[in-house]
Amino acid sequence: MREPYRIKVVEPLRRVTREERERLLREAGLNIFAVPAESCAVDLLTDSGTSAMSDRQWAGLMTGDESYACSRNFYRFRDAVRDVFGYPIVIPTHQGRAAEHLLFASVVKPGDVVPSNTHFDTTRANVEHQGAEARDLVVDEGLDPSCLHPFKGNLDPVKLDRAIREVGRERVPLVMLTVTNNSGGGQPVSIANVRAVREVCDRHGVPLFFDACRFAENCWFIREREPGWAKRSIKDIARELFSYGDGCTMSAKKDALVNIGGFVALKDAAWAEKITNLLILFEGFLTYGGLAGRDLEAIAVGLTEVLDEDYLAFRVGQVAALGEQLERAGVPIVKPVGGHAVYVDARAFLPHIPQSQFPGQALVVALYREFGIRAVEIGSLMFGSRDPKTGEPVYPRLELVRLAIPRRVYTNDHLRYVAESVARLFRERDRLRGLRITWEAPTLRHFTARLEELDAAAAPAAR
Ligand code: F0G
Repeated sequence: MREPYRIKVVEPLRRVTREERERLLREAGLNIFAVPAESCAVDLLTDSGTSAMSDRQWAGLMTGDESYACSRNFYRFRDAVRDVFGYPIVIPTHQGRAAEHLLFASVVKPGDVVPSNTHFDTTRANVEHQGAEARDLVVDEGLDPSCLHPFKGNLDPVKLDRAIREVGRERVPLVMLTVTNNSGGGQPVSIANVRAVREVCDRHGVPLFFDACRFAENCWFIREREPGWAKRSIKDIARELFSYGDGCTMSAKKDALVNIGGFVALKDAAWAEKITNLLILFEGFLTYGGLAGRDLEAIAVGLTEVLDEDYLAFRVGQVAALGEQLERAGVPIVKPVGGHAVYVDARAFLPHIPQSQFPGQALVVALYREFGIRAVEIGSLMFGSRDPKTGEPVYPRLELVRLAIPRRVYTNDHLRYVAESVARLFRERDRLRGLRITWEAPTLRHFTARLEELDAAAAPAAR
């Protein structure tokens, strides 16, 4: 499918030599987060906050009412959120993790357990910041990169029921359901699964919240894959999905097609009061929550544009096409391809690099050095930890490299370059080496860690 838009404004890309990239990587301590964005040929670090806004969104910025309280854009924003999600109370925040912080700080206590399909890194960190445990209970299929299940983001209702019984209802303040399941490969959750999860929640009297970042992409997959939904509009599907929840957090930087923003939306007035007390302390007044009036307007417009079926068909199709090109070249990827990104299975790509030597990050480093493509590791660097009792390293089951596609930014030709580059690296994979951390922060270490490349001699199994 071709782009269902044309280009009105362009941002020139600078040419950068391999030598310059080599130097920038060295200075960055092999951490791709510290590499200047302007030195990337194609930046697939994230699909978050990187969307190109439409002419209507840009026009909306000019209608920003920057009054401190009750600006007109707040009402437009609130009504747009209510219209899609159906929750009456809408609380703006500057981005998704602020929404998570406010929600968890209000309702989670030390010793609690928050089950989810898979917590995103900031969600997990925000739960843990309250002294609670973030527990991932995705279906087993979601942990197998090659299993072709249509809804690998589903939360296993049996595991959930067992977890709530074991822990005790009083220690489970809420269940979070991430749509789509980003850390598990951008995989969708089905309506049937949401109903099943709701049933378990009802049995125990536990509220259900959504992490709604990529809800429109999730609803697109429901329409494509779940029996009974093929003829329904994306908005109808979204309304149905969220009707089973008590509220949601959302980073508007994804499926609201804006560069900044987020919110909590919910039904319960008592929870909302706790959240807004913190909102005023940390983010801003109730009607702007850390955003400008114009930002609220851009979200209101974006929330309608993202439901457009031509947009979604192209969007999800463009990501799928990248996956197909990689698959044809034999590159191991997570299947089926998710909604916002292609995830390369780094352990299968680099079987000669053990997880203790960060194969995912090694692949990220090589992709940038050789081709100027910036990707992100979602594996042992992001999620690796130490067992609190034994001090032994613990590695995540999946070792992935995410090629996240910004919305409405790159053409199919850019993505062909990406596919050809990854395929070339795959043919030359034997020469890639493992890495070692030289410095790390106590939490969310992947953002700031510094690493170095191991000598060929130090890498035990290297060929
Ligand atoms: N939840 C999910 C599922 C996310 O993917 C993200 C962000 C957040 C919450 C937090 O939102 O960034 O606005 O504070 N994901 C980005 C990513 C950063 O690259 O996947 P935020």
